Amino acid sequence: MAATNGDVPPHALFAPSLISPSVVAALPEGYSIRPLQRADFDLGFLDVLRVLTHVGDVSKEEFSTRWDEMKAGAGGYHILVILNEQEKIVGTGALIVERKFIHHLGLVGHIEDIAVAKDQQGKKLGLRIIQALDFVAENTGCYKTILDCSEANEGFYVKCGFKRAGLEMAHYY
Ligand code: ACO
Repeated sequence: MAATNGDVPPHALFAPSLISPSVVAALPEGYSIRPLQRADFDLGFLDVLRVLTHVGDVSKEEFSTRWDEMKAGAGGYHILVILNEQEKIVGTGALIVERKFIHHLGLVGHIEDIAVAKDQQGKKLGLRIIQALDFVAENTGCYKTILDCSEANEGFYVKCGFKRAGLEMAHYY
């Protein structure tokens, strides 16, 4: 089924209808999953990302400005969060939908910035995040989803159904 990113409430980064019902059903008791909201700065969003890499000293105003830019970006940004029973953000992941001319105006999903809080790892939250992002990709019409990861994380992505394809290259500025 091909869904659009329509009906996006003002507080949500993307349409809540793109959250996979089977992932919702598979989360641990008391946990929830939803699109990133503008107020999530206060629920520990950036702290979860700090398990992934250097985040820096981002102010609430800077966070809000970037969220607004993403929201204005024609439905390309799908950042979701998992919250625990205390409504604290414990996991996050992003799917960016790239619009192409090739492959007959094909859409490609890019999975980015997957992070699960250290004390929450090993509960299948990472798997649920990837399954939820796969659901978004399929239902927004992507023909494939790709990601870059370290060798240390290859096993995790294989368990999520991905396979090695190609080689990452980078140019830093
Ligand atoms: N290598 C091999 N297998 C792994 C790894 C790994 N590094 N991590 C998890 N697995 C396995 C688990 O054992 C489990 O297997 P099972 O089904 O046989 O029990 C399966 O993968 C699913 O594991 P989850 O419990 O869902 O993993 P978790 O919730 O701990 O999340 C993650 C994994 C996201 C890698 C987490 O450890 C994390 O946040 N790490 C730090 C940040 C990071 O490296 N993020 C990925 C960057 S790459 C990117 O963003 C595109």
